[in-house]
Amino acid sequence: MITLGVESTAHTFGISLIKDSQILCNLKNVFTTEQGGLIPNEVAGHHNKIKEELLEKALQETNLKITDINIIGVSTAPGLAPCLLVGLAFTKKLSKELNIPLIPVNHCIAHLEIGKSFTKATDPILLYASGANTQIIAYEGKKYRIFGETLDLGIGNFIDTIARGFNLGFPGGPKIEELAKKSKNYITLPYNVKGMDISLSGIQTNIISKINKEKIEDLCYSLQETVFAMLVEITERAMAHCNKNELILGGGVACNKRLQEMCLEMCRERNAKLFLLENQYLVDNAAMIAITAEKMFKVKKIYKEIDIYPKQRTDQVEIFW
Ligand code: ATP
Ligand code: FE2
Repeated sequence: MITLGVESTAHTFGISLIKDSQILCNLKNVFTTEQGGLIPNEVAGHHNKIKEELLEKALQETNLKITDINIIGVSTAPGLAPCLLVGLAFTKKLSKELNIPLIPVNHCIAHLEIGKSFTKATDPILLYASGANTQIIAYEGKKYRIFGETLDLGIGNFIDTIARGFNLGFPGGPKIEELAKKSKNYITLPYNVKGMDISLSGIQTNIISKINKEKIEDLCYSLQETVFAMLVEITERAMAHCNKNELILGGGVACNKRLQEMCLEMCRERNAKLFLLENQYLVDNAAMIAITAEKMFKVKKIYKEIDIYPKQRTDQVEIFW
């Protein structure tokens, strides 16, 4: 069975073709800027422009014909409405023309499902750290339950806003990581853990107020040490509370080597196991949409009245597969 996965929730437009859970290709075209942030309509315009071309490239790379595709999965939630609409219109048209099923996939759940598919984890805690989302998740009773999360900003958006303050462009995470490597000088920042949750807006204001007063490398280093320690603290508490000894990372911020190192250290101390994926499967990607769609299709064949849900939460989705 060949599944086409389409990712179109935010800055990334992705196309993946998989055959029986094996990735044949995982292509993407990411909207980036040298300065400034994301304007949803501009991003949607970008996706509209490149969508056909990217599908064509995927078919060429895999030596497949469009008629070889058996099912289509598309991310319909959560995300930026104009971007979600591009993916939905594109896949609805394709599914009608090819007369094949279209499967609506929640993007956050897909980050988790690919983690479970590609590792040997059986009952993990998931630290999902991406642009808009920062959650500690575990599966319980047909749902992915959220045990802790950010009370305000997603950690990636938090990092990207600060990076814009430094004039580093978007996405800022990789640039902040590089600058952080050049310092070991810790500047005290607020540390905001509230029970199982974290709050980032106060730290953001604090760092932005220091921009012209401290060295940029020192601020990047201190930012990472502080907010990653907060993430690791609530992750560890969730692992202890749920009595679980496996951890999977997901989301773009999980590409950060310092965050991975801190998670590894915590897991070693608890005798737990950390599972890491290749970066291409941590950031937004279409392979995770295809993998999840295939799992869903095996249990449920027909999906009606498919629409976008820009604000759907991870714990609203029933995991029936
Ligand atoms: P979601 O819709 O799942 O909330 P997203 O659409 O923003 O997330 P992802 O690709 O999962 O997309 O994550 C992108 C974020 O990851 C950006 O904020 C980016 O700065 C951040 N990021 C990428 N690489 C790194 C890195 N090495 N260190 C820190 N942050 C990173
Ligand atoms: Fe994502």
